[in-house]
Order: sequence, then structure tokens, then C-alpha cells
Amino acid sequence: MNWDDLVALAHHMTQLSYCPYSHYRVGAAGLAADGRVVRGCNVENAAYGVALCAECGLVSDLVAGGGGRLLAFVCVDADGAPIMPCGRCRQLLWEHGGPDLLVWTPKGVMTMADVLPQAFDATDLGKTVSSPGTRED
Ligand code: THU
Repeated sequence: MNWDDLVALAHHMTQLSYCPYSHYRVGAAGLAADGRVVRGCNVENAAYGVALCAECGLVSDLVAGGGGRLLAFVCVDADGAPIMPCGRCRQLLWEHGGPDLLVWTPKGVMTMADVLPQAFDATDLGKTVSSPGTRED
């Protein structure tokens, strides 16, 4: 895992952030199981509540690029310092990375199981999503 490259990409993505309301830039980068690198930045809106977090863009990039499992993830602020994904985005990341997804946090690399303990997921719905993030429909 080349965390330096992911952090550098995430930092670059903060420059593309559209955040005229909060002025808080967020960039995200991740590595998919097939080796693809995916990324996102936050995109705000005059209707504040519909702002898209950087993780939303990253997950869209992952799925639009063919889907698959996310292995590693980092999101950073404008200084390039790691930040924690918000609660909603932890749920998004769990769906596509599962408990073993590695997340670079302000306290070092953690698993998604650490970041979102006792997560609700497809298994709670009785769904047979054997590997989160894979398309089975
Ligand atoms: N934000 C993200 O992009 N990801 C997070 O996990 C936390 C928050 C964005 C949303 C909004 O544009 C700005 O940060 C301030 O909340």
C-alpha cells in the first residue's frame, strides 16, 4: 500500500473542491482491489443540506469505473492532514469496503471495523452480498 501516493492525490483533490459556503476543502483517494485509484472532493450547494462529501464523489468514481471492493481510503483537509469521514460517509465506505477496508486516520491506519463498529449492512437485510461493493444484480 502506497499511502504517500493516496495522501498526495487526496491533497490534490482538495484544490478541486467546490466549497463556497463552508470554505472547508476535503479531498479523498482510495485504492480498489483491481488496482484502480479512485478519488473525490466535496461539492457544496446553496441548499446546504444537499452538499456532497468527498467520499460521495469517491464512491461514485469507484462504481462508475466498474465497481469492486475498496481496499484503502484516506480523506484530508486543505493542509493535507487526514480527517475522519463523517458518520454518513462511514456507512458509504462500509458498503464498498467492508470491515477490512484500511483507513488512514489522524491516529494512524485503522480498519473500517474500528471506524464503524457494529455496522448495519446488507446482512441485516438478509441479503447475500458476499463481498460488499461487488455488483450482484
Ligand atoms: N465533508 C466531507 O467532504 N467529508 C467528510 O467526511 C466530512 C465533511 C465536507 C462536507 C462539507 O462540504 C464540508 O466538509 C464541511 O462540512
